[in-house]
Amino acid sequence: MEISEAHARELEKQAVRKKELKAQVGADLAGVDSILFEAGCGHGHWLTSYGETHPEQVCVGIDLISWRIRKCLDKCTKRGLDNVHFYKAELLEYLEVLPESIRFDRTVLLFPDPWPKAKHHRRRMVQTAFLDELAKRTDMGNTFCFRSDDRPYFEWTIEHLEAHPNWEIDASAVWPHETETYFQELMDEYFSVVAKRV
Ligand SMILES: C[S@@+](CC[C@H](N)C(=O)[O-])C[C@H]1O[C@@H](n2cnc3c(N)ncnc32)[C@H](O)[C@@H]1O
Repeated sequence: MEISEAHARELEKQAVRKKELKAQVGADLAGVDSILFEAGCGHGHWLTSYGETHPEQVCVGIDLISWRIRKCLDKCTKRGLDNVHFYKAELLEYLEVLPESIRFDRTVLLFPDPWPKAKHHRRRMVQTAFLDELAKRTDMGNTFCFRSDDRPYFEWTIEHLEAHPNWEIDASAVWPHETETYFQELMDEYFSVVAKRV
């Protein structure tokens, strides 16, 4: 199939960006066996607070938006956190460049964009392919923690977890760390679920 010059340039830029991201991630996480991973970390409130109280845990947050990641990095600098890393990256792209040997102790998704229209549901971060990928990187008993103010997205996540052979909802699990994120502060109510790798 023929592609336009503009499209070819865009693909070339994407390839360069991905190569740079891979090099950066490889250098930052050299020697690291496992991480706590937060997708769509926004301004980094939750992860910096978690990282500060768990200095032994290597933490990684990613977000699509550059200025949000700059805010995250400023928080790390101000608090002297060397166990917390942030990257501007798209979720699936990040999972592609992350060294295969790195395991996820825990994955956290807080107030992800709900994409309310049915035709946009495929843009939600929770998808079977994402849960498959997480399952590959997560040891038995380790968890995926999801929180949203959006009831339909919460129910979508429950359905995807219940249908997945490698995840089991753990109703007795305690939420790993409470601190208000930027979006949590704006919401009157929210719903949480923790699933463990089985
Ligand atoms: C509503 S905000 C919530 C931010 C933060 N978790 C909080 O609770 O304050 C959702 C975030 O997810 C990010 N995001 C959405 N889709 C993403 C994707 N595919 N990969 C990485 N980040 C994504 C957005 O850029 C946005 O910052």
